[in-house]
Amino acid sequence: MAKERDKMMDPIKRAAADLAKSNYAIALTGAGISTESGIPDFRGPSGIWTKDPEAEKRAYQSYAKFQRNPKEYWEDRLAGPSLLGDLKKMAPNPGHYALAELERMGILKCVITQNIDNLHQKAGSKRVLDYHGNAFKLRCVSCGGRFEDREFDLQRLRNADQLPPLCRGCGGVLKSDVVHFHEPIPADVAQQSLVEAGKCDLMLVCGTSAVVYPFALLPRAAKQRQLGKETILIEINAEPTPLTEEMVSDYLIQGKTGQILPKIAEEVKRITKTS
Ligand code: APR
Repeated sequence: MAKERDKMMDPIKRAAADLAKSNYAIALTGAGISTESGIPDFRGPSGIWTKDPEAEKRAYQSYAKFQRNPKEYWEDRLAGPSLLGDLKKMAPNPGHYALAELERMGILKCVITQNIDNLHQKAGSKRVLDYHGNAFKLRCVSCGGRFEDREFDLQRLRNADQLPPLCRGCGGVLKSDVVHFHEPIPADVAQQSLVEAGKCDLMLVCGTSAVVYPFALLPRAAKQRQLGKETILIEINAEPTPLTEEMVSDYLIQGKTGQILPKIAEEVKRITKTS
């Protein structure tokens, strides 16, 4: 009966009520949350891979290139603009700000993102796990240490023929923190993300096609929590995904994250103020 009533509810109000009732809510995000910031996604109708399948094939070579010749890898990276455009110039949109607001309200405990654009952090989110790395960081392939890219003058190293950059901790080789296809997810982020997925009783899945693994395992892991403990899984996406089709998610709110998330945050604020 309750479930039938929920289904009839305005989805924004339903999501806000579920969030207000939650004890440990987290959010998973993908490229879709950043398209309203001017960063293209990959597999949407005007996605990078959709429009240029050759670019996707080349992207599958990046990690092997790094393993074969780190110097050449860095020369390539410094030679041209990123596929996503100049991320330094990109600004968060209302979708990012709404998640930061939900964190400030104490409702959202963590954001796990596939995006490398650092926009959640720019919007003020404090607990962000960069599952596919961060474009503004370098990572040591020996000790796993991470550094802000601004700590290194990469162009000067290039001109002085001193690439690849080396770790200040152990002297190991540094690669971009960005996780390439075929590259293992760094153990610390993979572990922390699984713990968060296991702990949450509500998961927002925003702006992702949910087809890339192992990230797409996280919603399924959250649904398989200990017996008797249910996790509510809410998708906010422009189109249905395998999570919708396989009924892993409880419901999909179809549309733009930059329009839907602020409305949900407003409604949560209204509910929690009155409760
Ligand atoms: N609001 C809601 N959904 C949106 C919006 C928007 N403003 N814009 C696009 N979408 C949807 C698209 O319709 C698509 O379903 O977001 C989804 C984005 O999916 P992908 O392009 O596949 O991006 P993502 O799921 O993050 O890709 C995962 O694949 O290419 C690799 O490493 C890359 O991290 C990336 C990973």
